[in-house]
Amino acid sequence: MEQVVYRIRRFDGEKEFWQEYSFAHEPNKTVLWGLLKIKETADPSLAFVAACRSAVCGACAVRVNGEAVLACETPLDALLGRFGATLVLEPLGNFPVIRDLVVDWEPKAVRLAEAKPWLMPRDEFSAEAGCRQTQAEFKKINAQTNCILCGSCASECNKLSTGDDDFYEPFVYTKAGKFVADSRDGAAAEHLRPVLARGLWKCVHCQECVTKCPKRVAPAEDIAALRRESIRQGLTDNPGARHALAFAGDITNSGRLNETTMAVKTDGLLKSATRLPFALRLLRRGKLNPFHFPAPVEGIDGVRAIVKAAKEAKE
Ligand code: SF4
Ligand code: SF4
Ligand code: FES
Repeated sequence: MEQVVYRIRRFDGEKEFWQEYSFAHEPNKTVLWGLLKIKETADPSLAFVAACRSAVCGACAVRVNGEAVLACETPLDALLGRFGATLVLEPLGNFPVIRDLVVDWEPKAVRLAEAKPWLMPRDEFSAEAGCRQTQAEFKKINAQTNCILCGSCASECNKLSTGDDDFYEPFVYTKAGKFVADSRDGAAAEHLRPVLARGLWKCVHCQECVTKCPKRVAPAEDIAALRRESIRQGLTDNPGARHALAFAGDITNSGRLNETTMAVKTDGLLKSATRLPFALRLLRRGKLNPFHFPAPVEGIDGVRAIVKAAKEAKE
């Protein structure tokens, strides 16, 4: 391959357009090297952000052929081998675009601040006594500490892509989860309440945030941990927690779900009543039997043992 083509989605502040740039291939370079080459030799007006060039600052994340990557650490040859000589570069998804590949972090920073991603020390800590934790305690938050706020998880999050304003960027849950799990923090509820109010139970489990994170952080796992902790703290007056508890109850009792009672247990009688016409249609078509209370499945003792082991493993 002698020439590489970057097809870049550009934005001049008013209109969007596509522009192609071609440059000579050199082995063992990164996506960022190609962008810098274009800027230095072909078009100084091309806008993108990069600072550390060492996968530390998180500034250079862009989308290449539909997937968010850190431009400064992603080998060009690997992408060319996978996609061929033409690569399509776009700004991160689910972010407002300021210009070309530069996105606006301001609204994201405001949302992040809502989860109070800072340490609120427990009472026994002070300037004199310090704020110490053991190595084992630090290990519990080590993974989340690696988040460099690059935005790749938010770019690919399928729940955020719906455009509903009822969900945070995945890294917000990671930051909240870090402080909830931090042995030095004494205000778990302060981090939990905002994420509960905005989407904690609305993640659609697509795992894009896990597979696209360049630092091997796993926001989806942090969401699961926050859910467990919110239930442990008794913050269960919400449909997500009620659904999870009803689900676990059904599986423990009979080894299968009772879908007739599940809606009532999740949404309560009043809200379920609003779905009565739908339920009647299901009844008429024989898809719902309100008198069906499933008997325990064969091997229910084994199911219960699995549920018990899963609970103990997480405690
Ligand atoms: S697993 Fe949840 S948080 Fe992660 S990308 Fe999918 S919807 Fe978003
Ligand atoms: S969790 Fe990973 S992908 Fe998301 S902002 Fe942090 S480092 Fe980037
Ligand atoms: S330039 Fe800092 S992470 Fe890429």
